[in-house]
Amino acid sequence: MAETADLVTVALDELLPRADGPESRLTEAMRYAALGPGKRLRPFFALEAANLFDIEERPVLRAACALECVHAYSLVHDDLPCMDDDDMRRGRPTVHRAYDEATAVLAGDALQTAAFDILLHPDTHENPAVRCELAARLSLASGARGMAGGQMIDLLGVRDDLGGVARMQRLKTGALFTYAFEIPLIIADAREAHRQALISFAHDIGLAYQIVDDLLDVEGDEDILGKAAGKDAGQGKTNFVTLLGVEAARHRVAHLADQARAHLDPFGSDAEILKASVDFVLKRRS
Ligand code: IPE
Ligand code: IPE
Ligand code: MG
Ligand code: MG
Ligand code: MG
Repeated sequence: MAETADLVTVALDELLPRADGPESRLTEAMRYAALGPGKRLRPFFALEAANLFDIEERPVLRAACALECVHAYSLVHDDLPCMDDDDMRRGRPTVHRAYDEATAVLAGDALQTAAFDILLHPDTHENPAVRCELAARLSLASGARGMAGGQMIDLLGVRDDLGGVARMQRLKTGALFTYAFEIPLIIADAREAHRQALISFAHDIGLAYQIVDDLLDVEGDEDILGKAAGKDAGQGKTNFVTLLGVEAARHRVAHLADQARAHLDPFGSDAEILKASVDFVLKRRS
């Protein structure tokens, strides 16, 4: 995972725009947001899942960088005073703290468009239909029927039922997680059985990941997390932890982890690393 993270950071550094004029403030803020010490988990899943197929690494790496740009943008906006109002992210001041709110809004906007710039560039894939499909799926996963829609539900507060919370999580976090697996599936033009297996894995691991994030908000150590803890309940958020309590939420994560690993069975020993990553990802403390 550390190797993949480095690979992605180097590639992102090359792909993100630089500027000389006064707009360099914007490109610097974009770089601050995207190149900071994140886990690069979604790119890891894209690249690791790609190993299950006989495809080149370069297109996957570029698409994984595009996904990481959207993820970074989602965090910049998520931290704004009008949203979660957070001062720390990845162990450093959030973008609106290091720069200012207007710059943070623009940095998020421009990271989002940078993602599509990367995907649609001919270097991403020689087949324009593949590039279009990669872009179309990322736009779905990011927009009103994906991450942004989930963020809206999160801010409004969900009705107190588990189905509503599950739907919010599927959009807010699940959609971008799922896209990580769609990258190799699209590029490999994978068959239906493999598609279903990986998408089911993505759904379970994505949901489990957000429940772990919500558990860490309750039990995590801010110094290790690199962001504030103990905020969700106070901000009136509804999630599996506020609804079910810590114990039941932990059980749900364990159940989702088992289910996720089982979905990888069709790939046999080829999916060993992916299987092993489940526990690693869910036992994280940061
Ligand atoms: C944080 O995502 C937001 C959630 C969806 C839980 P990550 O935990 O992947 O954050 P970074 O990229 O490592 O900072
Ligand atoms: C954010 O969820 C998910 C996004 C789409 C950005 P959180 O608000 O729980 O993420 P953290 O805890 O600030 O990283
Ligand atoms: Mg939030
Ligand atoms: Mg937040
Ligand atoms: Mg959180």
